[in-house]
Amino acid sequence: MSFRDYTPILKLVFVSIFLARFTAAFPLVHHSHPLSTDPTTEVNSDFVSANLLRPALFTRAIYCGEDQVTKWVCEPCKALGSDIHVIKWGGDNNAVPNYIIAHDNSTNTIVVAHRGTNTKSLLSILDDVEIKHVDLDKSIFKQQEKIRIHYGFQNTFKHTSSDILAEVKEALAEYKSQSLLIAGHSLGATIATLDAVMLHEQLDSSVKKTVVVFGLPRMGNEHWANYVDSTIGPGFYRVTDRKDPVVDLPPHLLDYYHPSGEIHIEDVNTAGQATKVVKCPGQENKHCSAGNSVFHDAILNHRGPYFENISFSCKK
Ligand SMILES: *[C@@H]1O[C@H](CO)[C@@H](O)[C@H](O)[C@H]1NC(C)=O
Ligand SMILES: *[C@@H]1O[C@H](CO)[C@@H](O)[C@H](O)[C@H]1NC(C)=O
Repeated sequence: MSFRDYTPILKLVFVSIFLARFTAAFPLVHHSHPLSTDPTTEVNSDFVSANLLRPALFTRAIYCGEDQVTKWVCEPCKALGSDIHVIKWGGDNNAVPNYIIAHDNSTNTIVVAHRGTNTKSLLSILDDVEIKHVDLDKSIFKQQEKIRIHYGFQNTFKHTSSDILAEVKEALAEYKSQSLLIAGHSLGATIATLDAVMLHEQLDSSVKKTVVVFGLPRMGNEHWANYVDSTIGPGFYRVTDRKDPVVDLPPHLLDYYHPSGEIHIEDVNTAGQATKVVKCPGQENKHCSAGNSVFHDAILNHRGPYFENISFSCKK
């Protein structure tokens, strides 16, 4: 992605600034949702290596094309070793961002990972006219009451949800695996989160499930946020990089809230290595990305680098 690809996001940032000013002038309009002020705790590099690094590496690999990824010869693929079999390459990188289902033989884990999107679909999804809540799809999810989610995110997810459910079930059986990793970046992070809720509801609880998403925008109302918390529980990590404005969109005042599980990268050195990573208590924490000022946001932080100079593009 070049800087130009971020134009639709910048537009949304400006819409949010406008709305923030508007509601400051008319405070009754503001729907307040208290931010947690509990202190963060620093996470060490062992935690990052054990839980967050491979999900980032898998997600980055998909930014390379189908040919290189399915043969597992892409430059970023090397960081994951050669003991990986790509079972399925999906998506059209247009309405549906590319994704893979893979078997990571080193850990006997089935991996579902979704990349972010190109400019055109980001525009159509994140465009402010489409920021409207809809009900959760009754044919897929077990709970719906009061839960409202972004139309565009659910719609994108529905293009692949039944394939992913069927293929994951088959892969778990074929490889006799009891472990599932679901990961994604940006728009792919929203699909991964919806996949994760669906797979938690549909798969046996004996399958260990870990969900790690990067640069996740807000997806729905507070009932949605609570639903993610109660369905996925503590195996959900939502990684935010410094001042990335995308994770602060759509704004609270349009009735959008995050689930728990934020891991916030506070500092990155010039070599792209994270030097301070913290765990943020609560659904949204004042000491983490929800405390960012929209006026100081750095749009390029959306792409990275995360942890060990991992930026989301086909580069090592
Ligand atoms: C997968 O891992 C198992 C156990 O570690 C090993 O015996 C097997 O050879 C590996 N399979 C492949 C295709 O590398
Ligand atoms: C960090 O990654 C970028 C590609 O995303 C690369 O151009 C750069 O050389 C890397 N820096 C270091 C210190 O490895």
